[in-house]
Amino acid sequence: MKRVYVDYAATTPLDPSVLEAMKPYFTVVYGNASSINTFGLEAKRALEDARNTIAGSMNAKPNELIFTGSATEASNLALKGVAFKEGKRKMHLAISTIEHHCVLNSAEWLRKQGFKVVHLPVDRFGLLDIGELENALRRGVSIVSIIHANNEIGTIQPIKEIGKLCHEYNAYFHTDAAQSFGKIPIDVEKMNIDLMTVNAHKIYGPKGVGALYIRKEIEIEPLLHGGNHEFGLRSSTENVPGIMGFAKAVELRKKEMNLEAQKLTKFKDHLIKGVLEIEHAYLNGHPTKSLSNIVNFRFSYIEGESLILLLNEEGIAASTGSACSSTSLEPSHVLLALGLKPEEVHGSLRLSFGKYTTEENIDYILEVLPHSVEKLREISPLFTEKRT
Ligand SMILES: Cc1ncc(COP(=O)(O)O)c(C=O)c1O
Repeated sequence: MKRVYVDYAATTPLDPSVLEAMKPYFTVVYGNASSINTFGLEAKRALEDARNTIAGSMNAKPNELIFTGSATEASNLALKGVAFKEGKRKMHLAISTIEHHCVLNSAEWLRKQGFKVVHLPVDRFGLLDIGELENALRRGVSIVSIIHANNEIGTIQPIKEIGKLCHEYNAYFHTDAAQSFGKIPIDVEKMNIDLMTVNAHKIYGPKGVGALYIRKEIEIEPLLHGGNHEFGLRSSTENVPGIMGFAKAVELRKKEMNLEAQKLTKFKDHLIKGVLEIEHAYLNGHPTKSLSNIVNFRFSYIEGESLILLLNEEGIAASTGSACSSTSLEPSHVLLALGLKPEEVHGSLRLSFGKYTTEENIDYILEVLPHSVEKLREISPLFTEKRT
């Protein structure tokens, strides 16, 4: 049976050259980067080279990049770190309604601790309402967190404009760039970003490695206390092999990003054209201001979960949305925020591609998907009701 992986937004396979770059740091250069013996110093040198590479790729300084265990941890550190530093009286947080759960649930936790949190709406394509952001800033919001490119629908926010507005009101601006980093150019200086979350496993690097960019002048409170690693902001022995893999993945993105985006844009356009020929099929998210590797459709009168299972039987690995919440039967908060009804949300499907996706993969999806939708509609009481 064919095996077509179209769940790259959940995670990507490790690039073989990333694996090669990591290997020596398990078995040869295995010292603790904090030890002052030769083994430790070798590991430390490698770690700092990796920091240079990754920081440089986003136009940050090396001492502005803190390695973490994931993007989830980086976003927790950004929001809680600023909150604890600023205190309840000064700290007032604004996030969009389409944040990844790592921001959404960090904000919710902070709200329960007594911090003020406001949720900013988006339009039907997932673009932030800038007027609402300005109102919130006028009312004293001191930190804003807006996802750069959404993980379910791919919509890309006008980050530079959002950051500029935040700075006009003296608010800090954090963005979760786990999906956009390495897919589209990011320059933290030009884009007015103060804190930024990234990770390795969305760009063909290893799982369990992330980083937080923190602009030099911003002070945050650490969440992990211990040996004062990572400039005292994230205690724990650094995961040197993982970080070396992250740096190699970033290096590869520099070479591959643009060509890959061109290829995937063609695939995505072809797929959208084909899928929208299916009766009662619609596109979720922005038609143009969107990542080239994520597309989200909804099909009336069917259940997205059943569609995933049917596609899986045909060898197509897709998802309904965020992998982190796919075990929950709650409708996606992202799709609800676009103004969709719960039944519309339930009929949604996310397909996400990457560098190993081929034209044949897309053609195969276009061959299988219409039949799968039809099959489910045949047994759907909603569809039968509509026809009679
Ligand atoms: C936008 C976004 N933020 C954060 C995360 C969490 O990443 P990690 O698995 O590194 O914690 C993901 C991954 O699903 C994501 O897509």
